Amino acid sequence: MFDAPKILIIDDDLAVCSSIKLLLKRQDFEVDSISHPKVALKTIERFSPDLILLDMNFAIQTTGTEGLNALKEIRNVNTKTPIILMTGWATVQLAVEGMKNGANDFIAKPWDNKQLLSSIKTLLDLNGPTRHSSSRNEIKEFDHIIGDSPAFLKVLNLAKRVAKTDASVLITGESGTGKELIAEAIHYESLRAKRPFVKVNLGGISSTLFESEMFGHKKGAFTDAVTDRVGRFEMADTGTIFLDEIGDLELNSQVKLLRVLQEQTFEVLGSSAPKRINVRVISATNKDLEKMVNDGTFREDLFYRINLIKVEIPPLRDRRDDIPLLVNYYVNNLKAIYNRPELKVEGFALHWLQQQEFHGNIRQLKNLVERVVLMSADDKITADEFKTQYRNSMKGGSVNLPQVGELTLEEVEILMIRKALQFHKNEITATANSLGLTRSSLYRRMEKYNIDHCE
Ligand SMILES: Nc1ncnc2c1ncn2[C@@H]1O[C@H](COP(=O)(O)OP(=O)(O)OP(=O)(O)O)[C@@H](O)[C@H]1O
Ligand SMILES: [Mg+2]
Repeated sequence: MFDAPKILIIDDDLAVCSSIKLLLKRQDFEVDSISHPKVALKTIERFSPDLILLDMNFAIQTTGTEGLNALKEIRNVNTKTPIILMTGWATVQLAVEGMKNGANDFIAKPWDNKQLLSSIKTLLDLNGPTRHSSSRNEIKEFDHIIGDSPAFLKVLNLAKRVAKTDASVLITGESGTGKELIAEAIHYESLRAKRPFVKVNLGGISSTLFESEMFGHKKGAFTDAVTDRVGRFEMADTGTIFLDEIGDLELNSQVKLLRVLQEQTFEVLGSSAPKRINVRVISATNKDLEKMVNDGTFREDLFYRINLIKVEIPPLRDRRDDIPLLVNYYVNNLKAIYNRPELKVEGFALHWLQQQEFHGNIRQLKNLVERVVLMSADDKITADEFKTQYRNSMKGGSVNLPQVGELTLEEVEILMIRKALQFHKNEITATANSLGLTRSSLYRRMEKYNIDHCE
C-alpha cells in the first residue's frame, strides 16, 4: 500500500484552508496548511508534501507579489513538487507569471471542487511511480522543430515551460509559421502526452454543425443523425483538444464553446445527461483576436479563457537566421527520400533566400525547397533555381490565393488551367497530372471554358 499523498495548502484565508482541507481529507489525502508564505520552506522540509496549493493573493500584504515570491523561493530549492496556484480571476496575469516561474497549474477562485480535484489527481497520478516506470513515449516532442534565432528560441522556451502545466495556451502567428507543429509539441511534452491529442479545425465547422461535431449526437437526435456519434470533446477526454483557427468561429458557436470550457461538462445532442470531461485546451489563430474583441466579433470572456498563456510565433522574415537551418534540414530529408546523397545548396543561394520576404513563412520555404529539389538535375542547387521557383510561387502559389468575392469557382478553375498549361509549356499529360485530372477531363474542361493553348 502507498501512503496517502500529502498536500500542503498555503493560504491566509482560513475559510479557504478549512474547506479545501475538508474536501481533500474526504478523498483520503493527508493535508496540512499554513497561512503565511514566510514559513513555507520550513514546512515543506518538515512535511515533504507531494503537492502544494499556493494562494497568490495574500490579503495581509499590499504588494501583491508575495505569492509569486513564495513560488520562486520554493522553486529555487525544490523543482519537482507540483504546485497549483490559486488566484482571483482579476489577477490572471499573476498566474501567467507564476506559470512561467514553474507552477504546474492554476485554479481561479472561487474554485470548482471537481476541477481542483481533477487537477490534483492529474498532477499526482502522472508524476507518481506508476507513470515513471512505463516507457517514455517515442514521439520526438520538440526535437524536430528547427530554429535557433533568439526570437524563435524565446518561443520554444516558453512553449516547453508551459507544456508541463495544464494552462490553456493560445498560439498566434501568420499562416505557415508552425502553429500546429508547436501545438503538437506542447501536447507530447506535457503530462498528457500519452492521452489523446484531438485536432479540430474550427474554421471548417459551420454553426449548424458545431454542436454535433464537438459534443456528438445520439441516433435520431435530428433528421440526419442515423447513428450515434462521439464528439471531439469526448474523444479528447483526459488529453488535449487543439482548437485550430479559433478566430474563425462564429459568435453563436463561441458561446457554446465557452460554456464547455468553463464548466468542463457538455450534453450530447439528443441526451440530457451532462458528460464531464477533463481536457487541456490549446488554440491557434492567425487573426488578431484582441482587435476582434474590440470589434465585437470575438467574445472577450472566451478570449480570456483560452489565452492564459500566449505563444506568439514571429514570421520567418523576423528571424532570417533560421532560413539556412531550415533549408538544410529539408534538403537533408529530401536527400534520403530521393536517394541523392550529394545534394547541396550553394552558399549564395542560402544568402539570397535570407533576403526574401516569405509571406507564406515556413510552409512556403518548405514547398519551395521541395519544388527546387524536384526540378534540379544537378546536385548543387543554385540561387537562380530558387529565384525562378520563388517567382512562380509568388505568382500562383497558395500564398496569393484570391480572396472570397474576387473570383467565382469557375474563374479560379480557368485561371489554374491556364497557369498549369503555361507552366508545363502546353504539355497536356504533365498539365493534367499537375491538376490531378485525367487527360480527357482536362480536354473536356478546356473545351467547356474555351481555353486554347497558352502562350
Ligand atoms: N520550426 C520549424 N521547423 C521545421 N518545420 C517547421 C517549423 N515550423 C513550421 N514547420 C513546417 O511548416 C509547415 C507549416 O507549419 P504549420 O502547419 O504548423 O503552420 P501553421 O502556422 O499552423 O499554418 P496555418 O496558419 O496556415 O495553419 C509544416 O509542414 C511544418 O512541419
Ligand atoms: Mg495551422
